[in-house]
Amino acid sequence: MSSKISIIGAGMTGATTAHWLAERELADLVLVDIVEGMPQGKALDLLQSLPVIGKDVAVVGSNDYAATKGSDIIVITAGVPRKPGMSREDLLTTNAQIVQAATENALKESPDAIFIVLTNPLDTMAYLTMKVGKLPPERVVGQAGILDSARMRAFVALETGVSVENIACYVLGGHGDEMVPLTSRSNIAGISLREYLPADRLEAIVDRTRKGGGEIVSLLKTGSAYYAPAVAVAQMAEAILKDKHLIVPASAYLQGEYGLTDIFFGVPVQLGRGGVERILEYALEPDEKAALEKSAAAVKESIQVLHSLVKI
Ligand code: NAI
Ligand code: 2OP
Repeated sequence: MSSKISIIGAGMTGATTAHWLAERELADLVLVDIVEGMPQGKALDLLQSLPVIGKDVAVVGSNDYAATKGSDIIVITAGVPRKPGMSREDLLTTNAQIVQAATENALKESPDAIFIVLTNPLDTMAYLTMKVGKLPPERVVGQAGILDSARMRAFVALETGVSVENIACYVLGGHGDEMVPLTSRSNIAGISLREYLPADRLEAIVDRTRKGGGEIVSLLKTGSAYYAPAVAVAQMAEAILKDKHLIVPASAYLQGEYGLTDIFFGVPVQLGRGGVERILEYALEPDEKAALEKSAAAVKESIQVLHSLVKI
């Protein structure tokens, strides 16, 4: 393979991202973790699955960043996940140290890489990666919106019995309890959800979407979601490596868009070989605009806490 993707953090989301990526036969893969033997073992297992599905991809596990040398994309999933009762913000202090080290170490080996961040609190960790790496904004993107929108699509499909392929949903804002499912623009085959569904059913779907991560944490008890977050990262990596100019909701650095500056926030972005090529600005309904402002206030607060922890 001529492309290389390294995943820092070979836990549930990291390993599952490698799985989805290997199936797409996009790039050689490297899994890095601090736990000795674990990334090597998972990489070997994944490698041994590939003859069955006929995919020619190199998969390597390591505890040493040297293995990541020359990566086109670095995915950061290193960090701790939530336990029941915790918010994503409760992870900030621990994960900031881990993400800072991961960014610095990965950049030494791959100075031109594009970074996809998954670690929570997501928008703040993407901000940290850009700042500590002194990276241009287009080279850092956080995964949240594809996942949150896919959850909403799944709930709409369950409610209506319509194929997920006919359902388009757009969840913007911070990846937290204040995220903003845009019900005016989300639609079934072009019909707005506001027209298609009774208001109370739509509100229930919005509420379940906002709490979608927590619902899984309370069921799993020992960790958080990984299949859906990981496939979302794989879609972003594919869009970048194939220069698809794909528009997806994701966390990007805003410099005036949506009236916000110096913040990573979930917005529609166009992804291509250079990373974030463009940020699209929707004209929003007044209620959605107010909800986005509330969500931005929560992310700004988290970034303020980050500034008190790390000199950036
Ligand atoms: P996990 O606990 O299964 O895996 C995390 C891995 O990071 C562990 O294997 C751990 O050993 C490793 N790690 C810790 N410190 C490290 C370091 N300094 N260098 C390299 N590796 C290190 O957790 P999981 O489920 O993979 O979640 C990872 C992170 O992603 C969490 O913060 C979680 O909240 C977040 N997440 C974010 C989502 C999103 O949509 N943005 C969705 C799902 C998870
Ligand atoms: C999620 O939404 C944990 O942020 C992760 O599932």
